[in-house]
Amino acid sequence: MNTRLYRITDPEKQKNEIEEIAQLLKSGEAVAIPTETVYGIAADCFNEKAVEKIYLAKGRPSDNPLIVHISRFEEIYSLVKEVPEKARELMNRYWPGPLTVILPKKSTVSDKVSGGLPTVAVRMPSHPVARAIIEAAGTPLAAPSANISGFPSPTSFSYVKDDMCGRLPAIVDGGDCDFGIESTVITLATDVPVLLRPGAVTHAQLEEILGEVKLHNAILNPLENNEQAASPGMKYKHYSPTASLTVLDGTKEEFIGFIKNNPHFADFALCFEGEEEEIPLPAVTFGTENDPFSQAKRLFDAFRELDSLGAKKVLVRSPSREGVGLGVCNRLYRAAGFRFISPKKGIITGITGGSGSGKSRVCELLKEKGCVIIDADKVARSVTEKGSPVIEELARAFGEDIVLPDGNIDRRLLASRAFVNDEKKHLLDSITLRRIVEICKEKAVAETEKGRNVIIDAPLLFTSGLWSICHRTVKIYAPVDVRLKRILERDGISEEEALKRFSRQTDEDRESQASDIVINNFPPYDIEQEINKYF
Ligand code: TXA
Ligand code: MG
Repeated sequence: MNTRLYRITDPEKQKNEIEEIAQLLKSGEAVAIPTETVYGIAADCFNEKAVEKIYLAKGRPSDNPLIVHISRFEEIYSLVKEVPEKARELMNRYWPGPLTVILPKKSTVSDKVSGGLPTVAVRMPSHPVARAIIEAAGTPLAAPSANISGFPSPTSFSYVKDDMCGRLPAIVDGGDCDFGIESTVITLATDVPVLLRPGAVTHAQLEEILGEVKLHNAILNPLENNEQAASPGMKYKHYSPTASLTVLDGTKEEFIGFIKNNPHFADFALCFEGEEEEIPLPAVTFGTENDPFSQAKRLFDAFRELDSLGAKKVLVRSPSREGVGLGVCNRLYRAAGFRFISPKKGIITGITGGSGSGKSRVCELLKEKGCVIIDADKVARSVTEKGSPVIEELARAFGEDIVLPDGNIDRRLLASRAFVNDEKKHLLDSITLRRIVEICKEKAVAETEKGRNVIIDAPLLFTSGLWSICHRTVKIYAPVDVRLKRILERDGISEEEALKRFSRQTDEDRESQASDIVINNFPPYDIEQEINKYF
């Protein structure tokens, strides 16, 4: 698809171009447009085919509802059943601007826009180009952020061009976005209003008009597996760069102290302006410490900058969660998958490596250095031992008779029922692995609270999901011939058996790629020296 690029600096003087863009929208096309928050992909909200084009360009699952953008207040009556007094007060104060209000929808709003919900999200942007385009199109425009699904929302024209060129017939350049994070989203369709997405209009400002406004739990916490997402947008891992982020909630001194004590933990720092000189890592900045607006404006840019610099593991200094800072932290914590480090606590390192890689030796050495070792294999055995709550779950899934009269599990019978097809195997794994991860997490967290560093020794670090509770992952590597020699000497098994054991283990290359650190444990490397680099 050919993409036309428009640059609009003054909509009043560029009426012809605005009219061309409006014609595209009227004819059912989707177009990327600037707003004061982030760029959006807009389409006529009453044209289902046009709305589908938005989802197509974004590659977004179509159950995620869209925000409808209006330019005049009266347009809201084509979308919602009624506007309660308090809602009107709120809109009077903050529209046009970075606030989205959710209300029960009219039936004329299609499920394609509302994502099948009985409500619709409405906002009146303040960006003059957005307003001129909506006005000229003569219809409210549904518009999500203009990024490919899963990537940071674009805050400048060049990013939209990167993401959307060839995917849309037109992109409108209206300069850099003022705010840089998406609008505040509040629902008034509940008894007590709920803040679903914090933004430039703050919780306190909302409460000033509405009285009590609840904060949705997912703003600062990961969604639990079975928790309903109030806003479907919460389900997806949004706003994320390719680099893996870990957040340190502490002062500048603590941040620098952590980096000095843990060299090689991260390859980049994301910090506030003026701090980069003192930080012993390559650094990217996002605003100044005491100005959350400046942080919001830079955050998504900084994510993209880190990716373009090839950052792999980034340590980020957390801003304050006050006011607009709540919006910044919400985007940042989610991008970091809620991985936090506290300067006063220990860190959790997951270690993996195939048979004969020398993983056990490494763990012994780390124990001597004061680390607490959690043996994931041992935990795995314990979850199916007599008395474990997992046994009941397994009995429900695979038959009561897998539990022997003495309370132990009949491992053979269980295996004969579980290893029949992928679905059953997956069921067995999901029951046991969830508990294994839970136990390892409890143990590890308790130790880190005491300030101790924890090692999770896990042959299946990645496939088990244990990596997700670690601050970093380490692969102990040795070439096959070295490993073979070691296990032949150690275990007295035949070469054939040894090779069979290797073939059952996970792919070495993939593990190395997935790990934050690869430690070489074969001649001429000195394993103690290698370890000292990282611990
Ligand atoms: O600043 C913004 O709001 C930008 C610009 C382009 O206006 N737009 C934007 O749209 O961020 P989008 O689609 O990326 O995010 C919309 C958010 C999602 O989290 C979605 O789940 C939520 O609003 N949302 C929309 N309608 C909803 C509804 N009826 N109920 C609950 N959540 C809703
Ligand atoms: Mg978005």
